[in-house]
Amino acid sequence: MQATFRIRRFNPESESLASYDQDYVLETQPSDTVLDGLIKIRESIDESLTLRCSCRGSICGSCGMRINGEATLACKTKVISMIADGGTLHIEPMKNMPVIKDLVTDMEGFWEKIRKVQPWLQPKGPEPKGEYVASSESMGHLTGVMGCIMCGVCVSDCTVLEVDRNFLGPAALAKSYRFVADPRDGNAKTRLFALNTPGGMWDCTRCMECVEVCPKGVGAMDRIMALRAKGMEQHVPSTCGSRHAEVFADIIRQKGVLDEPMLAVRTFGLGNIPQLLSFIPTMIQAFKRGKVPKIGIFHRAIPGIRSIQRIFREMRKSR
Ligand code: FES
Repeated sequence: MQATFRIRRFNPESESLASYDQDYVLETQPSDTVLDGLIKIRESIDESLTLRCSCRGSICGSCGMRINGEATLACKTKVISMIADGGTLHIEPMKNMPVIKDLVTDMEGFWEKIRKVQPWLQPKGPEPKGEYVASSESMGHLTGVMGCIMCGVCVSDCTVLEVDRNFLGPAALAKSYRFVADPRDGNAKTRLFALNTPGGMWDCTRCMECVEVCPKGVGAMDRIMALRAKGMEQHVPSTCGSRHAEVFADIIRQKGVLDEPMLAVRTFGLGNIPQLLSFIPTMIQAFKRGKVPKIGIFHRAIPGIRSIQRIFREMRKSR
């Protein structure tokens, strides 16, 4: 089948320093992956095309790039799964990291954040005589998160990182969870307290992009939610993030509906006037969309609130 590879090119040595799209038309086989096509282009059409790859089997994590608007592994993506005969593939470097050349991005920022969460086992107590032993039952739940191949695909498509470079990001937070939840690690509380800071576990907006694009099913966002739950269990100091979670649940318990103005007031505190004033444009939008009641500012409890409160009571008992 014929496929056009429209590749975003960038040459740091060019005078204009502008990126541009270049088309390559290829004959591909049904078994060809996007990476096969790119290698074919580099080997027989344009040797200046720059990309990273190694294992060609979704193991090394080096061929992350955006294909038709979504980050993925080029070696895991068949051309035939993306376009019909004669179609065009749009191939770009990953987002949220600087581009070095063509499809190669600078991963240093990515690794720096991974190092920040201290991704190694920190057991407490005396050194065991042999290896650290853990039962398979206590480790089984970590299999998914240990499957991370550090490809950076989740970081590329993280919508928080687009606006906040300080955010640790899904890969580093999932890696942190891997050690917080490891029964052999003795430093979970310190780790959680470190994540209870700006840029840490509370800054994820749960957009699900990291879950959608991960080629290994790591489920980074779910790990971040699990970190939050563990943080609450360990009584991390109150921050806007932890208060937001507590107040959110409490408002639902009291009113059965999310009261956004009340959420802002209780999360930031009535005394935090500058912060509350900064929400006025959002409040106007919320009002237009019916999220603020027509009469008064705060919502009343919905009819049937007792049933909601019963759910909360049952949940508390089951804990
Ligand atoms: S080349 Fe190794 S993961 Fe794609």
